[in-house]
Amino acid sequence: MGEKIVEARGVCHAYVPGRQDLRGVSLDVAPGELVAIVGENGSGKTTLARHLNALITLQAGALSVAGLDAADPEALWGLRRACGMVFQNPENQFVSSVVGEDVAFGPLNFGMSEKDARAAAAAALGAVGLPGFERRDVHALSGGQQQRVALAGVLASGPEVIVLDEATSMIDPQGRDELVRAVLRARAERGATVIWITHDMELAARADRVVVMRAGEVAAAGAPEDVLVDEALLASAGLEPPMPARVWAELVRLGAASGPASVTVEGLVSALCA
Ligand SMILES: Nc1ncnc2c1ncn2[C@@H]1O[C@H](COP(=O)(O)OP(=O)(O)OP(=O)(O)O)[C@@H](O)[C@H]1O
Ligand SMILES: [Mg+2]
Repeated sequence: MGEKIVEARGVCHAYVPGRQDLRGVSLDVAPGELVAIVGENGSGKTTLARHLNALITLQAGALSVAGLDAADPEALWGLRRACGMVFQNPENQFVSSVVGEDVAFGPLNFGMSEKDARAAAAAALGAVGLPGFERRDVHALSGGQQQRVALAGVLASGPEVIVLDEATSMIDPQGRDELVRAVLRARAERGATVIWITHDMELAARADRVVVMRAGEVAAAGAPEDVLVDEALLASAGLEPPMPARVWAELVRLGAASGPASVTVEGLVSALCA
């Protein structure tokens, strides 16, 4: 196996003594990979994500991110910098109501000079498609724009890993598409690794790999076209296949199609036209 940017081995977590909110999660992520994490409410997705940038102290198991050991208290700031997070609620993640100040906060906090932080903020705003937005009021932006400002705030610190925790669930489809595009561009241009926690199975279908969480464990991990067509596995995790796979399965049941299902709309269309 090659180099890993995230390496988790048997990570366990209990918010309250006696509970098992994570029960031995092992997960490897390769640099530049786009990994989707899916699972029903309470399956441990956010708890796992919070470990990646040291928002949660490691209780048991081993975890390294970008070569930093999460068990090492000295690695805390390194982990915060190496792994940036965008959360669900756009309004809850701003430290300043002025866009430019908010985006520059991370770099300043990590010790960059005022001038460099401002330059990093401007570059990050450009990268998310909001060039020149520095003086705007975050509260006057759409939800989708706010999420892109939050993403810019993450990008400005130059993280190796970007974690998005249901970052599209409170914004409209247009905002979602804009955020997805900005994330994919950041990945292509900066070689960032992306971990996308989502309830949107069509979004998960676009990942390199899908990880299914179930009751604090990894129930399955693999290519979307393998994992997201497994109805029994997904049902056991409280999930359904993405719409194109459900349509295909129904056509197969009706005898109107045969062969492996596609998990994307594009794949479904080309299979139907073939
Ligand atoms: N701050 C907390 N204090 C106590 N228990 C918590 C806390 N956060 C989460 N839990 C519990 O830990 C378990 C895993 O929760 P977690 O938030 O990681 O799930 P999730 O997969 O992110 O769910 P969702 O899809 O609802 O965001 C759940 O049983 C939850 O109730
Ligand atoms: Mg969550």
